[in-house]
Order: sequence, then structure tokens, then C-alpha cells
Amino acid sequence: MKQEPIKRIVLGITGGIAAYKAAELLRLLMKQGVEVQVAMTEAACHFITPTTMQALSGKPVLTTQWDNTANGMAHISLSRSADAIVIAPATADFIAKLAHGLADDLLSSMCLARLCPLLVAPAMNREMWQNAATRRNIAQLLADGVRVLGPDCGVQACGEEGMGRMREAEDLARDVLALLRNAPLSPTPLPASGARELNNVKILITAGPTYEAIDAVRGITNRSSGKMGYAIAQAALEQGAEVTLVSGPTALAKPQGAQGVDVTSAAQMFEAVKQRADDCDIFIGVAAVADYRVAQPSEQKIKKSAAPLTLELVPNPDILAYVAALPDPPFCVGFAAESENLAKYAEQKRCVKNVPLLVGNLAQQAIGSDENELVLFDDSGSHVLPRADKLTLARLLMQHIKQRYEGASQ
Ligand code: PMT
Repeated sequence: MKQEPIKRIVLGITGGIAAYKAAELLRLLMKQGVEVQVAMTEAACHFITPTTMQALSGKPVLTTQWDNTANGMAHISLSRSADAIVIAPATADFIAKLAHGLADDLLSSMCLARLCPLLVAPAMNREMWQNAATRRNIAQLLADGVRVLGPDCGVQACGEEGMGRMREAEDLARDVLALLRNAPLSPTPLPASGARELNNVKILITAGPTYEAIDAVRGITNRSSGKMGYAIAQAALEQGAEVTLVSGPTALAKPQGAQGVDVTSAAQMFEAVKQRADDCDIFIGVAAVADYRVAQPSEQKIKKSAAPLTLELVPNPDILAYVAALPDPPFCVGFAAESENLAKYAEQKRCVKNVPLLVGNLAQQAIGSDENELVLFDDSGSHVLPRADKLTLARLLMQHIKQRYEGASQ
């Protein structure tokens, strides 16, 4: 039987009360055969001792960059041999350091010098989590490709209740192991702004595939699951927007609070959007709308015969282009799923459809999957939202849309 190679991680502990949970995380990872090197900040040593972590890991714990370990190059050598660095707990202060690329101790230097993935498990008071500075820092980490695990909601060490508790060791261990096996991780709950920033903003979203009938039982469709569009609807609702979700056939439940409109064909989607486009502030076309429909679908099931069958296809109306060309159009966001030349084709679509923001993704990675990677194209150039689950991406995308929308309506 083929043996899986041993995985090695660096477990970084920073100075928060949740540091005690790091001991359990270490134990769970080692039980799964992961080799763990612990590194602690000075503040972390006030919460849990290096002796405890050394006893559990069976390795000396690194606490300073000023000893002679690895010839004073521990921050380089350790990050090179690790498959991932996991910071648990990650304090607000350490997250701020990571977001700004500071490297004034062993752990932060290691993070900056790394070649491997970085995962952080935030742990802090709820007000610190919601603070605008932390929101900016977390968004920056996500944009830099750092995986943010949690936090959870619940009673905090200070006695207050809310978002900011570090996730339980079992949940973190599951996500770390998933990353080491290239499986999807849990979504990141972004810090919610106290003020719901899209209050009273009406957003119309199309999602999912369309289905173009050939006859009574057959049709032309595509593999869009609706996950990306539904995640965007969820992210917009979290920001306080009034959301209408026009959806082709999917297996998903509409996010609570969204007004749902179910359609089947591109023509029906077009009608549903036409009726509502004048009354929305932002339009986001995520649906994979069929470009063509069958000119004359048969009402009855077409009988099989030995002769070749030719279907005449006629173009469908372009919903996004229609909305963008309205006399007083909403702020329009288009999507493009391409199998090659993403930047070139996405920019072309942005120009042809005349929309201020176009979101590109690779069809083979995006369609039907739980994770995605997005590239945003607008007047300021292109901006990558690195691979993450669709809800995390949707939340980052909504922040970008909000900024562009506010800029456009000033
Ligand atoms: O649903 P998932 O499985 O999560 O997958 C998500 C997705 C891959 C479908 C999504 O991220 C995505 O990329 N959607 C756009 C798919 C696409 O390729 O669209 P397009 O290139 O055919 O069209 C470009 C834009 O015009 C899109 O915003 C589309 O909604 C819109 N369009 C296209 C044709 C048409 N007749 N009317 C339209 O409004």
C-alpha cells in the first residue's frame, strides 16, 4: 500500500487566552500523524508555557529569533520545511502585523519568509473583531491568499458575548487536515460592520443556469449550480441590502431574506429582470444564461429515427447588456466564465456589454464547485481574489462592489 508522505506544520501561538486550546489542537494533529513544530510569541508564553507545548510535541519550542537554532535562520529553514503555518490563536495585533508585513519577532518573520500556505485562527474580543481596522486587516489577509479559520460566536473570556471566540480545536484540526489533503475548508465569517453598509440599497441578482427546451422532455442547459450567485445574495443580505434573486433551476435553498423569483429559460429570466431593473440600484449578472435557444421547440417528445436531426438555434436576448443600456441604469456587474485567455475575453466582455465591473473566473474551476478564484476587471485595472470558498469570495466581492457603487453614485 502506498504510504502518504508525512505532513509537517508550524503551529504558531500568539498571546491570547485561547492559547490553551492550542495544546488540544497540537494533540489532535499529532494523532493524525502530522509533525508539529511549535513557535510562540513572548506574549503567548504568559498564557501557556513552552514546557507544556514541548512535552506534548516532543520538540523544543521556538520562542525567540535570538538563539542559535539553525544558525540564527530558524525563520527561513522552518518555513521551508513546513507544509503549512497555522497561527492559533491569532490575536488582533498579530493579524495587523501580518496584514502589514511586519517581521519583528520569530513567528512574524517566519510568516513573511514562508513559501507554504498560512492559516490563521482569530481570537479576540467582539469589539476588536468588528473594529474597522481589523475588518481591513482581515480583508487584506484574504486578498493575500491567507486562509482565515473562524472565529466563532459565543461567550468570551471577558464575559461579553459575540463573534471573536477562537474556533474549537476539533474544528481547526479538521480544516488544517483538509488543507493538507487539498480539500475545501469552512467559509470565513468576515467581521460584520456595525453599520450595515448597504442598508436601503436594492440589489437584483441573476444566478444558476437556464434551460432551453428542445422538446417536451429534453433541453439545453449547463452545469452552473447557482452557488456563486446565491453566495453573493447572502453576502449582500449580510450588508443590509434588499435582495431579489432571479434564479434558473438549481437545487439550492434561497438565502433567508432574499426575494426569490424562479425561472427556467433565458426568455423568462429576461422578463423577470426587465420587470425589476428600473427599481434596483445594483444589478449583478451571475447566471450562466444560454446564448441560444431552439427556434421551434417541439411540444411533443421528438421520436427517434435513423435520419440526422438538425436543430435551429437562435440567439437569446442579452440580459446584462439590456440592463446596462437602460437610460438610467443601475450599477452593473457582469461575470465571465472562460476556459482560456481569461483577461483578454473578460475585458472584451466588459467593453461590449458596457459595464463598469466584470468578474472573471475560469469555467473549469468555477462551475459547480464549492471554491473559486475571481479576477475583477474595472477602470482601475485587474484585482485577484485568490482561491477560497464561494461565500468568502462573495463577501470580498461585495466590499469591492460597494466601494465602486459609492464612487459611481457620488
Ligand atoms: O453557479 P456556479 O456553479 O456557482 O458557477 C458560477 C458561474 C461559473 C456560472 C459564475 O461564476 C459565472 O461565471 N457566470 C457567468 C457565466 C458566463 O460565462 O457568462 P457569459 O460569458 O455567457 O456572459 C457574460 C455575462 O453576461 C454574465 O454576467 C451573464 O450573466 C450575462 N449574460 C449572458 C448571456 C445572456 N444572454 N444574458 C446575460 O445577461
